[in-house]
Amino acid sequence: MSAALDPRPRFRRMQVQDLVWVMQIEPEIYTHPWTLVNFQDALLAGYSCWVMDCAGCPCGYGVLMLGVGEAHLLNISVAGASQRRGLGRALIEHLRGVAQGYGAERMLLEVRPSNAAARALYDSTGFMPIGLRPGYYPACGGREDALVLEWAL
Ligand SMILES: CC(C)(COP(=O)(O)OP(=O)(O)OC[C@H]1O[C@@H](n2cnc3c(N)ncnc32)[C@H](O)[C@@H]1OP(=O)(O)O)[C@@H](O)C(=O)NCCC(=O)NCCS
Repeated sequence: MSAALDPRPRFRRMQVQDLVWVMQIEPEIYTHPWTLVNFQDALLAGYSCWVMDCAGCPCGYGVLMLGVGEAHLLNISVAGASQRRGLGRALIEHLRGVAQGYGAERMLLEVRPSNAAARALYDSTGFMPIGLRPGYYPACGGREDALVLEWAL
């Protein structure tokens, strides 16, 4: 259960300088983390990259690719020590607002079937399954499918 967040998280555009911290968190919370180049490319490409600050310190980040009528959620992450406090939900709500402000009518994402925490967050948010990408992700000892989810905004 996520109580009202105190203090409320604040959101700001990700800067190159944030990648030092991001690259500390990313391998702590993913088995197959994004690389520094992945984040640099996202910033260079003009993707909508955000940092969430809690009490003045970074606690999460997200990357959205905005297109005509839709937004693709490429990365949503909460630092391990800050998880299960409602911050993932706050972050996805922020990203929904960004996408709506851009005119997107739906948000899409891929998720590993084995990622129970993320799937529970997406299920409770309103995402619906619309497809499967076989062998989409690298996995320990092979490949893992991706579930494709859609959220009507
Ligand atoms: C997925 C993630 C962003 C959730 O962030 P979080 O701040 O822990 O999530 P919240 O506290 O806002 O929880 C929101 C809901 O998600 C679900 N949830 C979150 N963590 C969960 C867990 N470990 N097990 C089961 N459900 C979980 C619950 O339904 C929860 O609602 P509730 O607290 O009312 O029960 C976080 O676990 C994370 O960064 N994981 C590693 C990166 C990742 O996998 N990103 C997604 C890639 S597709």
